Amino acid sequence: MIKKFLLSFVLLAYTLTSTASNLNNEQQAAVAMPDSYSADVSAKILAQGGNAIDAAIAAQFVLAVTLPEAGNVGGGGFMVIYKDNKADFLDYREVAPLKAHRDMYLDKNGDVIPNLSLYGALSAGVPGTVDGMWQAHQKYGSLPWKSLVTPAIEIAKNGFIVHKNLEENITRRINSFEKEGIKVNFAKHFASATEGTNFKQANLANTLQRIADHGRAGFYRGETAKIFTDFMAKHGGIIGYDDLNNYRATWRKPLENTWRGYRVLTAPPPSSGGIAILQWLKMYDLLSNNKPALAHNSATYIHRLSEIGKRVFADRAEYLGDPDFFDVPVKQLLENSYLKERVADISDDSISNTGAIKPGLKESPDTTHFSIIDKWGNAVSNTTTINYTFGSGVIVEGAGFILNDEMDDFSVKAGVANVYGAVGGDANAIQANKRMLSSMSPTILLKDDKVKLVTGSPGGTTIISSVYQSILNVIEFDMSAEQAVNAPRFHHQLLPKDAIEHYPGITKANIAALKKLGYTLSRRKFGSVQLIIVDGDNLDAAAESDRRGKSIVLK
Ligand code: DON
Repeated sequence: MIKKFLLSFVLLAYTLTSTASNLNNEQQAAVAMPDSYSADVSAKILAQGGNAIDAAIAAQFVLAVTLPEAGNVGGGGFMVIYKDNKADFLDYREVAPLKAHRDMYLDKNGDVIPNLSLYGALSAGVPGTVDGMWQAHQKYGSLPWKSLVTPAIEIAKNGFIVHKNLEENITRRINSFEKEGIKVNFAKHFASATEGTNFKQANLANTLQRIADHGRAGFYRGETAKIFTDFMAKHGGIIGYDDLNNYRATWRKPLENTWRGYRVLTAPPPSSGGIAILQWLKMYDLLSNNKPALAHNSATYIHRLSEIGKRVFADRAEYLGDPDFFDVPVKQLLENSYLKERVADISDDSISNTGAIKPGLKESPDTTHFSIIDKWGNAVSNTTTINYTFGSGVIVEGAGFILNDEMDDFSVKAGVANVYGAVGGDANAIQANKRMLSSMSPTILLKDDKVKLVTGSPGGTTIISSVYQSILNVIEFDMSAEQAVNAPRFHHQLLPKDAIEHYPGITKANIAALKKLGYTLSRRKFGSVQLIIVDGDNLDAAAESDRRGKSIVLK
């Protein structure tokens, strides 16, 4: 009798606390994804009780099928995680193969051989995505691994309906390969993916099945590894069995700093993005201190942020590289006293001389992003890439996946710009097993240890501008998610000299004022921000409207 009483008491207490914890801890969940397939699958995983990391893993594999421009198993990426009030960072960036060396893309005169680091089998780093997802699952996953890979297998096997935007990107790529005389097998595999057709990828489905069955070993060993390394050997690539077998994603501490009372969690080196974003936001506040507030996208706003950009990119070229190979002075680059000195000579009335902007310390298109918040308030901000649109243009025959061309993110020769116009030197020189410098900047902002905002974007070096402007749009200008991702953006990165790229939508008067200051302006859209904002109990999510993104808020 007493036992029975005690049991019912325990059960009652359990029901009350679990209801209370539901009320206290369960909120809306949301996903902001670069396409509808990844949005629907990840929302379903959340609805089934999966956490943000489960949803991220499922989305990553779906994107390898439905967003071949950037989604991948043949590339890498970065994931910022905030789970149960703890911050974590997963670096699943590619590494240079063991046979890589500093001058591998130079001819005998020491000149860069055009396109060798950008297209073809030799441009690929050792892929990190599968080990990354595997490790994320081991540490944080709550649903079975297989159940997270299966949606991607089904879509690869049964096909998906090709979006107009995908057909356009495929056509553009095939045309440019033809025009430049680049011999890769991209057209053979993707020319038939035209708008509205059902596109199936049987070999990719088989690769994904091996990953579902055997985890990381399904990619880095066994049949997939054999197909991959045989293909490399036949087509002039240097990734071998040891490269695959040795590859490990790395857990790092996220780069963390405070800005306007928010805890900003973002990407540490080997990304340049986190440092750049924090420098940009902090220098903006230092410059604006005691001055009247500026209107969004006014000439002075764009000018101040461009001046800051010059200094950010001068530091990036000199000090940033893989922290496992090069001592990156992270702390000094973010010190208030340093940033104060850095902005001291910026004037609202004139452009500073590009040639005079040096690294400041006294000592010496295509990627994709998604943002997720689950009903427990855990968040994932994940940016993943095969570098340029459709990577190296090479599909591993028989395994069905596109190979990255991430080697171009190294500084292939000191001072020579990569495909995004970024230069570098020793810090980012090629070495076997080293990670190439990135601009990917998945970012989470916390207020009072609760997630306030999850953001990120593709776009090479313009990622950094897209991300810091998405943050300013929300925090400084109080925009909704929809407004913040679609507001016209601009980018300046030191070189080319005094050049600003901007979206349509900057007023004629502001453009005229910037030209008068001496800037050259050109129109280009870049990036694709996927953003979630937490406003009390409500989530506000948006995917940039220009491409084929989709956001879902689960009530
Ligand atoms: O890691 C990086 O910075 C580049 N590989 C990212 C490439 C990219 O964002 C292309 N997107 N449009």
